Amino acid sequence: MRKRTSIVVLLVITSLLTLILVSQLRTVSTNPPITSDFGNTPENIKSIVRNSCYDCHSNETQLEWFHKLPFIASRVKEDIEKGREKINFSEWDQYSEKEQITILFNMLTKVKKDIMPPEDYLFVHPSSKLTDSQKEELETYIKGLDNISGYSINMDGQKRYEKAYQNWEENKEKEKKIEKSPNGIPFPEDYRKWKVVSSSYRLDHHTLRVILGNDVAIEAIDNNETNPWPDGAILGKVVWEQRNDENWEAAIVPSSFVHAEFMFKDSKKYGSTHGWGWARWLGTELTPFGQDESFTQSCIECHLPVKNRDYVFTTPSIFP
Ligand code: HEC
Ligand code: HEC
Repeated sequence: MRKRTSIVVLLVITSLLTLILVSQLRTVSTNPPITSDFGNTPENIKSIVRNSCYDCHSNETQLEWFHKLPFIASRVKEDIEKGREKINFSEWDQYSEKEQITILFNMLTKVKKDIMPPEDYLFVHPSSKLTDSQKEELETYIKGLDNISGYSINMDGQKRYEKAYQNWEENKEKEKKIEKSPNGIPFPEDYRKWKVVSSSYRLDHHTLRVILGNDVAIEAIDNNETNPWPDGAILGKVVWEQRNDENWEAAIVPSSFVHAEFMFKDSKKYGSTHGWGWARWLGTELTPFGQDESFTQSCIECHLPVKNRDYVFTTPSIFP
């Protein structure tokens, strides 16, 4: 009798433990229905893409048990959601022909640059790495698309791709070394990852601008602590010439890049220039602006009207 009770107790405990463990596994992502499996793309191309890209760019995600572990699950879920949002081969019919072509050329670029599939994914799925011959197969197919019935395609996309690829090929060896500003400030290479603070348009210069902030600046905005801005905050402004959108005359959109300029807050280090380090880089070559340090005077003079706002014009826009 006693022995039976203890077995029952043991069973109950084990099943409880199993339950707890299983409940720790996270649901990652479900697979929505497939509306079109990569259209009428030839089977050889489909199978390459299926093997290397479908886990994140289709509704046929195959999850391994370890993808469901806490911590890993949220990362995987994010990848799948983001990946599907950008390209979903299972909903190929939802894209216009033009979009499909753009996606295909984009794919080729990402694959040739080894950006896709992502490196950390390949680490756990080594068999998804594309071989050179698979890359060639993709390239031959995509570049030849204008000859394939069903795609009445414009050479434009192809030319644009070829040019972009050629530029990339030519420049990849050249180590891009951006010179420091004459006041010793190095170019903040990671500015592309910053968040948008606001945007503006100069009627007198016909230029569009986006104002960006690094993490410290964004946190300061969230906490409403921007007068003065905290040390470590960096504000950036990126400026483009304007042009009319070729598909919608009334829309003004950015064309050539004019310059990027930055204000680096450090009340001690830059005490002599009102607590900000000022710097600007011109054109896509990102040539430092100014002959010598004295250029900062021109920045300061023009920012003087907003002295009582810690020399910053921009009021952060609302992102509800
Ligand atoms: C582990 C998941 C994963 C796999 C596998 C994967 N991708 Fe991606 N892919 C992503 C994510 C996530 C993004 C969005 C990245 C971002 O916006 O920063 C993306 C973006 C892209 C983009 C850019 C789309 C755009 O409009 O910006 C292309 C093109 C692309 N992937 C192609 C491929 C191809 C081709 C393969 C297979 C050879 C592949 N990907 C495999 C996760 C993945
Ligand atoms: C002719 C006047 C003028 C000069 C010169 C000038 N700025 Fe500005 N700056 C502005 C105005 C106006 C804004 C507001 C946003 C806009 O231009 O769209 C601004 C905005 C900025 C911003 C975004 C943060 C803010 O204050 O709104 C940065 C960063 C910036 N300028 C850096 C510089 C640097 C660095 C220099 C010197 C190399 C400089 N500026 C010279 C007028 C000027």
